[in-house]
This record gives sequence, structure tokens and C-alpha cells, in this order.
Amino acid sequence: MRKNIVAGNWKMNTTVPEGVQLAKEVKDAVAQVADLKCDVVVGVPFTHLTAVKSVLEGGKVLLSAENCADHEKGAYTGEVSAPMVASTGADYAILGHSERRGYYNETIEMLKTKVDLALAAGLKVIFCCGESLDERKSGMYFEIIKEEIMGSLFHLDADAFANIVIAYEPIWAIGTGETATADQAEEIHAFIRKLIADKYGAQVADDTTILYGGSCKPSNAAELFAKPDIDGGLIGGASLKAADFLGIVTAF
Ligand code: 13P
Repeated sequence: MRKNIVAGNWKMNTTVPEGVQLAKEVKDAVAQVADLKCDVVVGVPFTHLTAVKSVLEGGKVLLSAENCADHEKGAYTGEVSAPMVASTGADYAILGHSERRGYYNETIEMLKTKVDLALAAGLKVIFCCGESLDERKSGMYFEIIKEEIMGSLFHLDADAFANIVIAYEPIWAIGTGETATADQAEEIHAFIRKLIADKYGAQVADDTTILYGGSCKPSNAAELFAKPDIDGGLIGGASLKAADFLGIVTAF
């Protein structure tokens, strides 16, 4: 059964005490929702995972890291491995965010390794894909998204693929205030689901959660989530205020 998910991606924001406070607010707000129609996840910096996990204990909110290393362990100073993330009690890792691909040169091949390591550690993966403004203007965006998904995910067997959530995040809509229209997003989500159906069959495709990310906020979430292939959101800026995040969680 396909799940609706609203996941926050805090990015490089909040100190640990601020993050703990925000997590408490999100947990309490979600606990008040009588008829919760989605899973709720907070994606937090590595430094926050353990403290936020303690806060979330006993509640409904799940925990994600925002990345993991492309090696399992060893002499990689400053890196944080998938088993380390899993040992905090985190449920998910966000992988392939355009900020990681763009600023830290993460390649399709490297992300394939990260996906394998995250799944081997027992984490689920929120895998991001999406095109730049130039790629959209050139009409190449279907090709870009296809390459990202096929190159880093389609080596998985169907059982492993069941642990993948896909997030379509057009780079031109991230943090810009410019949202893809619900129709633009739906076009890509349907395309992604078709790719999955061609590879794994209709049932797997139907069961896969595909999130939209990019300037999603309480005022536009309901219209996006009403589309048949949009199963929730990966939320940046609006996940940093519990009230805004809750406004998106309750948009279904
Ligand atoms: P914004 O919601 O701030 O546009 O960020 C989206 C995003 O990058 C989530 O991963």
C-alpha cells in the first residue's frame, strides 16, 4: 500500500538546543492531529540525530538523516556512515539532494553506493532527483530525471526498492518561492511512476511513494497533494516552523 509522507529537511539550520525544541513542537503538534493521513518525518543534521531521537520517542514522528557517507567505515575523516546513522535510531536517510549533488559533487555512481550502504544498514532512503532551470528550459528534464533514477536505483531488486521513497525536487523551485505548478509536478511524478512500472511492474510502481519538494508550503500543499501521483512533500524552509510544517502535514 502506498504511503503518504510529509518529510522535513532542516538542511544546515538550527543548533542542537534549537533543533530539540523544534522537534518537540512538531511531535506535540502531530500528536494533536486526530485523523493523521500521512507519515511524518523530520530530516535533521547528523549532530542532532541522537538528541532528536530521544525527543521523538513515544510519538508518531519518524527521524531521518540528510546524507550518509559513501563508505561503510574507516579512514574518512569527518564523514558519517550509514551504520552510524542507523545506530542513532534514525529511520531514513535523504540521499541525492540537489545541494549535495551541486555543492559536493555527488555523482550518480556515488549515490548508487550510498543507497546500497543505507539499505544494508537498515535505513529507508528518500532519494531526490530533479532538473535545473536550464535543463527544464532545454526540454531535457525527462532525460535527466530518468538518468538519476535509473543510475542510482535500478540495480536494486524489487524487495530492496520497496525501501525507497522518491522525492522530485526541481532545482529551480528550491528555496526560490517559485513552486512547480501542481500540473507540472504531476507530469513528472506520473513519468517517474511509469519508469518504475516499466522496471518493476505496476504493483511496485503503485506502492512507491513519490514526494514533491520545492517551495511547498501550507498555502499550496493541498493542491499539490490532490494530484494522483503526488504522495506528499519534502519540505525545506517551511519545516523550520512547527506551525507551517503542521499546515502541510494536515493538507491531505
Ligand atoms: P524549500 O522547501 O525551502 O524550497 O526546499 C525544498 C527542499 O530542498 C527540500 O529538500
